[in-house]
Amino acid sequence: MAASASPSASASASASADMFSPVAASWLSQLGTLRQTVRQELVARQLAAHLPAPDVRPDTLGLARGAETAAAATEEGGAATVFGGTTGRAGIGPVGADGTLPAATAADASEAEADGVQRVRVLDLGCGQGTQALRLARAGYAVTGLDGSEPMLADFARALDAEDEAVRTRVALVRGEVTEAADRFGPGAFDVVLCHGVLMYLADPGPLLDSVARVLVPGGLLSLLVRNGDATALRPGFAGDWTVAAAAFDGSGYRNRLGVDARADRREELTAQLAERGLDVEAWYGVRVLTDYAADDAPVPADPDELALLLECEERAGRTDPYRAIAALTHLMARRRSSGDSAEGG
Ligand SMILES: C[S@@+](CC[C@H](N)C(=O)[O-])C[C@H]1O[C@@H](n2cnc3c(N)ncnc32)[C@H](O)[C@@H]1O
Repeated sequence: MAASASPSASASASASADMFSPVAASWLSQLGTLRQTVRQELVARQLAAHLPAPDVRPDTLGLARGAETAAAATEEGGAATVFGGTTGRAGIGPVGADGTLPAATAADASEAEADGVQRVRVLDLGCGQGTQALRLARAGYAVTGLDGSEPMLADFARALDAEDEAVRTRVALVRGEVTEAADRFGPGAFDVVLCHGVLMYLADPGPLLDSVARVLVPGGLLSLLVRNGDATALRPGFAGDWTVAAAAFDGSGYRNRLGVDARADRREELTAQLAERGLDVEAWYGVRVLTDYAADDAPVPADPDELALLLECEERAGRTDPYRAIAALTHLMARRRSSGDSAEGG
């Protein structure tokens, strides 16, 4: 059975991280629906076009590298909370002065040393149930999932228990606050950072982007999925809610389908905020252009050929103007600049 969160972990989780727990059951119950399937599948396909191979770290391509340590974390002021699978991979070492943990506790490090493979280190910030993290671990990446919600991490841990041991040993689950990732893991600790469907729950994107910029190695990749702030009038407009639609043109707030008051990001603003932190957007996509208006519980087509065609249409729309600009979600791929690169050339 998967390990569960300790009471002390519950107490120390931040308020913002915990705002998701009340709606976790609704989120999880919708994962197999058409809308969520399109979301996860599109994100995976778009990400795949930018990822390095699982054993090709950016630093092996000649880029500088930061900390040696990955995949370990501490709860504030004391013991770390790491959810493990049945392998009991929850070993915690002493905390260093900088808040990081020694490499011996890292999920990836032990395996890399055992088989001689330098696995690409992925941090999934706000990993939730772990759909993307698990895909990457199965493909050979060393993945650390960090999330503030106990029910979401418990769901991930259950899924992890059903995986082969090789996959389980490549995943570490950590409960914590996304904005504190850099303090916990140290600078340059990851080659790839995923942050999907999280920024909308933060009032200010700045602290999270600061943390991402620090925790990524130069040359590292950020995959950032946000609510598209350039198109928030569409849903209320199509529903005939003109008051909300009118406000959406200028505002950034919206109520999402889980009933949470959240915040959308405009692409150009976010691109500039990333660039200020040394992260240059190298591509962007729309996610869920054609199926965003399906009912929450609409199922995927039973016919696999129809589903494949539907996904092909969504994928095409997600990379094609003008469709991608009005998608529900915007998926930005950004690269951390190396120290010698200029903002324009990086
Ligand atoms: C919509 S779910 C997305 C899960 C997953 N990334 C995906 O795309 O399927 C958002 C996740 O972000 C987590 N989250 C939101 N704000 C957070 C914060 N400040 N710190 C840690 N986790 C947070 C929630 O607990 C939840 O698991």
